[in-house]
Amino acid sequence: MTESVTIGVIGCGSVAQNAYLPLIVNLRSQGKVASIVGCDLDPSRLEIVQQRFGVDRVTVDPAEVIDDPTVDIVLILTSMTEHGSLTIRSLEAGKNVLVEKPMAVTLEEGRRVLAAADAAPGRLVCAPHVQLSPDYQQMYAAVAEGKVGRPLLGRARYGWDGPDWSAWFYAPGGGPLFDLGVYNVTSLTGLLGPASKVTCLSTLTRPERVVAGEMIRVETDDTFQIVIEHASGALSTVTTAFGMQKYRGAAVEVYGLEGTIQLMGDDWAPAGLEYWANEVGAWQLIESASSYWPWTDGLAHLVDCVLRDEEPYTRPDQAFHVLEIMLAAMRAAESGQTQHIESTFEPRPPRPRARRGDAHRVHDRVHEDAQ
Ligand SMILES: NC(=O)c1ccc[n+]([C@@H]2O[C@H](COP(=O)([O-])OP(=O)(O)OC[C@H]3O[C@@H](n4cnc5c(N)ncnc54)[C@H](O)[C@@H]3O)[C@@H](O)[C@H]2O)c1
Repeated sequence: MTESVTIGVIGCGSVAQNAYLPLIVNLRSQGKVASIVGCDLDPSRLEIVQQRFGVDRVTVDPAEVIDDPTVDIVLILTSMTEHGSLTIRSLEAGKNVLVEKPMAVTLEEGRRVLAAADAAPGRLVCAPHVQLSPDYQQMYAAVAEGKVGRPLLGRARYGWDGPDWSAWFYAPGGGPLFDLGVYNVTSLTGLLGPASKVTCLSTLTRPERVVAGEMIRVETDDTFQIVIEHASGALSTVTTAFGMQKYRGAAVEVYGLEGTIQLMGDDWAPAGLEYWANEVGAWQLIESASSYWPWTDGLAHLVDCVLRDEEPYTRPDQAFHVLEIMLAAMRAAESGQTQHIESTFEPRPPRPRARRGDAHRVHDRVHEDAQ
């Protein structure tokens, strides 16, 4: 059995420095990570990660990471248009891979990522990792066990003013749907199952923005309202934008014929659940089981899977399905036509720990309160 892993980080910008490298340093202190290799086209970023995170080796050439026989896991944290090709090359080189969202920016490239993952010996974990959070699992188990009855509607939102550090977020292959709405589409397809149709309206509210100190032209729409029909018959909506300032209230809601369940906070930063059951007749607040849950958890999960020789809980087929929904939503907005979704995925059962522990807390409370 492997005792510790070497991680190669391709792309050492904002998310690497603010989120994944701190996690890797933590995993290193637990003895799970032996060595870290950093790669970025920009050498100044490599200096920063060497100084701040004790990255052992650095290179400006991704091939030096991908072809390095000592690297067990390749972590792809570049701008989005690079994701697909780097993932395919890493899988073909026999690596375990974590790719930030989206897995690719075209359907064709996404198909090639899936095919490479099927053929390769390594594991592929695709962000976002929302389905690993204990609060999501608690909500998912409650929905799967019929605690809200048959789900008919879902709703999710995530937005903020938008990144001000890299212009690629506003170029083709960027935009708030790939960057933010992707969390919501992942949550809703997880909770309500695969989609069969999608329609969408989108607009560009701010055609110019200041990014990294310069005025740039925005080339993608920045505001989206999406409606999804799930194969189960349930309907859901996603609200996402680079321009939202603040919000309060649930991030994700599922309305069933016998109750309603809501995930508070954001789906990437959950803050507990609120639950209505007709048979109880009162709202119940379920405290967060996620207070220390980091949204980068997919990496800790992948490291554990490699060390224990296990398969990851999340599967690339759902990430591909989410990509198809997002691309179809953009086509629907352009054409004014509802789009059919061809791909599907095998829904995962709730994770066993959540079923035994947290999810049953929902059940137990309902019955305690009802008596
Ligand atoms: N920043 C966040 O808070 C955040 C949060 C969650 C997810 N993400 C995702 O993480 C990814 C990166 O986002 P970011 O904000 O860190 O972007 P960023 O622009 O700050 O960093 C990306 C880095 O990748 C490097 N790069 C680009 N192409 C490369 C290549 N071929 N080889 C090596 N290096 C390359 C760039 O030089 C840059 O340093 C995106 O997919 C984003 O959606 C970001």
